[in-house]
Amino acid sequence: MDYLQTQGIRLPRLGLGTYRMQGDICRAAVESALGLGYRHIDTAEMYGNEEAIGAAIAASGIKRGDLHVTTKVWNENLAPDAIRGAFDASLRKLKLDHVDLYLVHWPAKNMNLPAMFETLLKLKQEGRTGAIGVANFNVALLKSVVEEIKAPIACNQIEYHVMLDQTPVRKYLAAKSIPLVAYCPLAQGRAASDETLMAIGRKHNASAAQVALKWLLDQDSVAAIPKASRAESQQANLDALKLALDDQDRKAIASLPKNRRLVNPGFAPAWD
Ligand SMILES: NC(=O)c1ccc[n+]([C@@H]2O[C@H](COP(=O)([O-])OP(=O)(O)OC[C@H]3O[C@@H](n4cnc5c(N)ncnc54)[C@H](OP(=O)(O)O)[C@@H]3O)[C@@H](O)[C@H]2O)c1
Repeated sequence: MDYLQTQGIRLPRLGLGTYRMQGDICRAAVESALGLGYRHIDTAEMYGNEEAIGAAIAASGIKRGDLHVTTKVWNENLAPDAIRGAFDASLRKLKLDHVDLYLVHWPAKNMNLPAMFETLLKLKQEGRTGAIGVANFNVALLKSVVEEIKAPIACNQIEYHVMLDQTPVRKYLAAKSIPLVAYCPLAQGRAASDETLMAIGRKHNASAAQVALKWLLDQDSVAAIPKASRAESQQANLDALKLALDDQDRKAIASLPKNRRLVNPGFAPAWD
C-alpha cells in the first residue's frame, strides 16, 4: 500500500469510505476490508456508524499503529465547546484513545475559523488526533486557513472523480503541498457503468471502476476513499492499484464531461 506523508501522519492512499453503512452491515464491511488489507477507514459523526466501526476495529486485532482512522466534526458543532464534545463522543464510540485525522466536515455560514482551528490544534497538541484537516473547503476558505490562520492542515477532502473537474482547488492544494482526499471517487458508483471507462478496462482486463480509481491514484498527492460494502468490490478496488493506464487512456478520460458534481448541499461554499 502506498502512503502520503502529511503533517506528521502516514495516510494510506486507498481507504474505505463508510457513508450510508450502519450497524451490522457497516461492521461486517469494515471487518471484511480490514481482513483484505485496508488500513485506512473514513467515517464521520454524521454517518452514525462510529460504534460499528469501533467494534470492527476492536475485533480485528490490528495494531493501532498500523491503522489510520479519519473522523469528522459536523458543521453544527463548530463552536469550540461543541467541537470538544463531538470529538469526545467520536472517540468513545470508536473505542479509541486517539484518531489519526480529524476533519471539519463542511464549512458553516457563521463559523469562527480562528477559534475552530485553535480548538482543533489543541486536540492535535494533546495527542488525541494525529493531524487536523478540512473537507469541502473551496480556494477562498483554504486561503484563510492556510495563509491567515496558518493551520497545519493535513488534507482537504473533496468530491473528485473522472466526471468532475477540480482544477482550481487541486492547483491550490498542490502549490501548498496539501494532499487531496477524493470522496465519491467512483462518482457514487456511476463510474462502473461508463462506456469510455469500460472500453479502457477491457483493454487492461479490468473493470471501469478500477480504471476510475487508478486514474485518481496516479495523481500526485491524491488519496481515495471508495465505499464498498461487498468483499468482491473491496478486493477489486485494492487490485486497481496494479493497473497501468497509458497516455491514450488518460486522453480518453480527460475528454469525459467534467461537470457531474454529485454532493452539493445548499450551505456549500462557492466553488471558484
Ligand atoms: N467529506 C464529505 O463531505 C464526504 C461526502 C461524501 C462522501 N464522503 C466519503 O467518501 C466515501 C465514498 O463516497 P461515496 O460512498 O459517496 O461514493 P463512491 O465511493 O464513489 O461510490 C460508492 C458506490 O460504488 C460501489 N462500488 C464500490 N466499489 C465498486 C467496484 N469495484 N465496482 C462497482 N461498484 C463499486 C459501491 O457499491 P457497494 O457498496 O454496493 O459495494 C457504492 O454503491 C463515503 O463513503 C464517505 O466516507 C465524504
